[in-house]
Amino acid sequence: MSCCSQFLYIKSLARFPIFKALTPGTPIFPQNHARVAVLGASGGIGQPLSLLLKNSPLVSQLSLYDIAHTPGVAADLSHIETRAKVTGHLGPDQLGAALKGCDVVVIPAGVPRKPGMTRDDLFNTNATIVATLSDACARFCPEAMICVIANPVNSTIPITSEVMKKHGVYNPNRVFGVTTLDIVRANTFVAELKGLDPARVNVPVIGGHAGKTIIPLISQCTPKVEFPADELSALTERIQDAGTEVVKAKAGAGSATLSMAYAGARFTFSLLDAMNGKEGVVECAFIRSEETECKYFSTPLLLGKNGIEKNLGLGKLSAFEEKLVAECMAELKTSIKKGEDFVANMKL
Ligand code: 2OP
Repeated sequence: MSCCSQFLYIKSLARFPIFKALTPGTPIFPQNHARVAVLGASGGIGQPLSLLLKNSPLVSQLSLYDIAHTPGVAADLSHIETRAKVTGHLGPDQLGAALKGCDVVVIPAGVPRKPGMTRDDLFNTNATIVATLSDACARFCPEAMICVIANPVNSTIPITSEVMKKHGVYNPNRVFGVTTLDIVRANTFVAELKGLDPARVNVPVIGGHAGKTIIPLISQCTPKVEFPADELSALTERIQDAGTEVVKAKAGAGSATLSMAYAGARFTFSLLDAMNGKEGVVECAFIRSEETECKYFSTPLLLGKNGIEKNLGLGKLSAFEEKLVAECMAELKTSIKKGEDFVANMKL
């Protein structure tokens, strides 16, 4: 097992006390032969994400798709001395070849935010891109796990789900909105405030992936941490607005790419570990859910060979967190419906 994979495993276990008994030394699963496709591989997230995937012993085939530059990105990555075979696929005519036989598809494709934009402002451009790519997944790798990074995730996951339904191949246990960056940020910010090692901090983040729909559960943080009400409120807002913090700092040059690539890779490695039979792998993701009145909601998930094995739910919330959940419902429902309506009205 790579140290990266082991590190991620320990982190996801540490978040849930019931898995504490499983520590390093847990059996290693050898069938690391996953075929992974990155759709949008030449972009700001796609390139570093592809690099991290190429660097992993869990991946044997890395298929890179985009509408520009993939031959160059693939040639470049293919020289790295790891065993994953890299192939580059350029433009819609080569999308099928990129996807055939893939076990996991990661979708960072789409345009990023500029200062002053919300994630929802990306809907008009990214909805069509995600619907088109999901349509290709339904045709060429209907059994694959699909991990969507493209924003607005609160709408793009309903889009992917509805497209898969139209093809009669929807499996809700295999479609994930990647919200891992919210967890990564929450862990980092809590660690900074409390002088802890961020690698040992675990904050579940539930809800969605935009503004106030991002709900960090500081009350469930491990190790246990406490903040006065004003600090808790400021910390929560910082986590909710952290993407915007990066957009502002990049001053027109886009949104988070490197930390998002890290987060996308962390989620993919957790999924691959679980698909390989490792037990106790837990990650939060935005998925089809029955846990609240929203059809899609992010909560901690126990991952397994077939994707989601068990939804671990919201757990015990503080009064402050309960209020945040209640306050995000209207926005989340609107974003979900927007995605569903988009697919209902589109011709596939
Ligand atoms: C973020 O949270 C890009 O949505 C991404 O920064």
